[in-house]
Amino acid sequence: MTSTAVLPHAATSSGIAIREVTKSYDGTTVVDRVTLDLPRGGLTCLVGPNGAGKSTLLSIVARLLPADEGEVHVDDLDVTRCESSVLARRLAILRQEHHLAVRLRVRDLVGFGRFPHCGGRLRPVDVEHVDRALHYLDLEDLADRFVDELSGGQRQRVLIAMVVAQDTDYVLLDEPLNNLDMRHALGILRLLRRAVDELGKTVVVVVHDLNAAAAFADRIVAMRDGRVVAAGSPDEVMREGLLEEIFAVPITVERVQGRPVGHYLRR
Ligand SMILES: Nc1ncnc2c1ncn2[C@@H]1O[C@H](COP(=O)(O)OP(=O)(O)OP(=O)(O)O)[C@@H](O)[C@H]1O
Ligand SMILES: [Mg+2]
Repeated sequence: MTSTAVLPHAATSSGIAIREVTKSYDGTTVVDRVTLDLPRGGLTCLVGPNGAGKSTLLSIVARLLPADEGEVHVDDLDVTRCESSVLARRLAILRQEHHLAVRLRVRDLVGFGRFPHCGGRLRPVDVEHVDRALHYLDLEDLADRFVDELSGGQRQRVLIAMVVAQDTDYVLLDEPLNNLDMRHALGILRLLRRAVDELGKTVVVVVHDLNAAAAFADRIVAMRDGRVVAAGSPDEVMREGLLEEIFAVPITVERVQGRPVGHYLRR
């Protein structure tokens, strides 16, 4: 399980600990003193309007971007100080934007997910992880196709498969449902739920579909203007006044099969 080493700033319990994280661009603060604990285990949906700071925050947690101030720990790892290969075996991220310049086949790109574990030379155990990821993402028939010849949704599934193959305890996914049809979007949400429930993974997903968040998440974290403005169970966050404050549109919340569901009003 996790290391028992006690570090000066180690969180008292394991998980992702974000402390007073701030990021500015040209004098504009886009992540503003965010402090947030994401305990180990569980599925968190990160929601909020465009420009709220969701991607910036996730990128800082995954060390793709340096914070101006503040600290992030993933269990006992100080994200800014640990070796990148150590972090890559603990935490994987799917970015919102991808620039795939190289011509690769699906299976080879998914295999990149194993590099933190095997250093580029896939062992039989790595091939097993790749095969499993291809199966989970419904990509077996596309495994030998070139990624740049796939549809947008197929390509999105390949990128998710690469993250799944990395097989880390912590998984951050920035808008993984982009471009996906309903069947595949539901498939991903169910897959993430199973990864949490059966494998004990800790998953953080940025989604714009509030009802997907309410149906699948253990907790919802809402950001606006660089700040965390709400965090709690779906029942705690899916409240009409609060949602209107976050998204600046009127939303009606009803309960369907015991879960809160938000509707837009037509007016
Ligand atoms: N490299 C950059 N240079 C300048 N400003 C940036 C840069 N990256 C992001 N921003 C700004 O920071 C703010 C937060 O951006 P971010 O991508 O984190 O938002 P988001 O919540 O992920 O939005 P979306 O839902 O549209 O993906 C935005 O106002 C954006 O314009
Ligand atoms: Mg974003």
